Amino acid sequence: MGWIVKDSATQKIDRRAEPYLTDAMKQRYTSDILPRYETKLGALVPILHDMQHEYNYIPYQAMIEIAQFLEITPADVLDTASFYEEFHLEPVGKHVIAVCQSIACEVCGHRAILDHLREKLDIEPHETTDDGKFTLLALECLGSCDTAPVALVDDTLHENLTIETLDEIIAKLP
Ligand code: FES
Repeated sequence: MGWIVKDSATQKIDRRAEPYLTDAMKQRYTSDILPRYETKLGALVPILHDMQHEYNYIPYQAMIEIAQFLEITPADVLDTASFYEEFHLEPVGKHVIAVCQSIACEVCGHRAILDHLREKLDIEPHETTDDGKFTLLALECLGSCDTAPVALVDDTLHENLTIETLDEIIAKLP
C-alpha cells in the first residue's frame, strides 16, 4: 500500500491583520456558550457553527484563533471542522444546495436530482458557479430518510423532492 502524502505541513495559510474571532465574539462565547460545557473542547462545535454563520465559511486563520481561545490545538479544530461535511473550509456561493446521496435518497432518485443540478448550474458537486451564486454539494444522510429524496438549500431542509419542486425553490432564491 502506498502512502498518500498531504501538503498540510507546508500549506500556506492566508492571513489578514484583523482577527476573525473578534472581541465581541469572544465575550459572547464566554458568557453564552462556554458555561454550557464541562470542557472548553465541548464548545468547539457551536463556536464553529457561529463562525461559519458569521463568515459563510471557516477560514484557517479563524481555526487557529479558535484554538488559542479554547486552549486546544489547531489540529483539534481542523479535525472537527473537516469531519463534518456541513462545515465549509473554503468560501462558498451565496446559496448552498446540498443534495443527500445516502442510501434512502439514492433509492428514491437522488441521482436524477443531482444530475439535473449539475446540468442546470453547470458545476460538479463541491464547486461554485462563476457568478458566486450557487455551491452544489452532495452530502451523506441528512436524517430525513422517510421523506427522501431530500436536500438542504441554505439552512432549510426540503423533502420529497422532485426536479420540478427543486426548480421552483431555486427560482425563488434572491
Ligand atoms: S438517506 Fe437521505 S436523508 Fe437519510
